Amino acid sequence: MSKHTGLYPGTFDPITRGHIDIISRAIKVVDKLIVAVAANPGKGPMFTLDERLAQVSEAVRTLPHTRGVPIEVIKFQNLLMNCAVAHGASVIIRGLRAVSDFEYEFQMTGMNAHLNPEVETLFLMASEGTQFISSRFVKEICVLGGDISKFVPAHVRDALQAKVAARDIAAD
Ligand code: COA
Repeated sequence: MSKHTGLYPGTFDPITRGHIDIISRAIKVVDKLIVAVAANPGKGPMFTLDERLAQVSEAVRTLPHTRGVPIEVIKFQNLLMNCAVAHGASVIIRGLRAVSDFEYEFQMTGMNAHLNPEVETLFLMASEGTQFISSRFVKEICVLGGDISKFVPAHVRDALQAKVAARDIAAD
């Protein structure tokens, strides 16, 4: 049986419990997982690429179960399909939350399939408890002083709170 390397790409600005849920479940269906943190400057990320890479690496390091599946965390700045080929990935993993995600994911999958028909995209439905989480709302809640502990791991919560505090000081 051939072995499959999965590539789970995202901006992860920041990584949330929703992303961690997808990572935990993706390792049930691939033999190796690469979590690829995209530079994605167009999204105007709050965290630098290296900060996001470190946060994702810490989240992966502290996963309770990895089922013996190796998980590598990388950063990438180029085309997703080039990144997949460079790392020998045969499957792109994406999480789907609501119908609203569908159109964007549908278009992206179609474009990627044209770029490289050898690489399939596999969607995992977000688990019931994480379907409402979005990085954007987590940031907004944190900026407005709300508690984000339910949505992100402790190290991300601390990093977000520190980033927001630093921005507040700079704005004074
Ligand atoms: N549970 C909860 N939330 C989830 C989730 C889940 N299972 N899966 C995704 N999300 C949320 C994220 O929190 C994020 O929220 P936000 O939009 O409020 O910030 C949103 O869904 C999507 O973020 P993410 O999963 O990080 O992906 P992305 O859409 O930012 O990543 C790339 C897009 C990186 C895959 C895409 O831009 C890409 O491939 N870039 C490389 C360049 C390229 O090849 N372009 C051509 C593409 S056709």
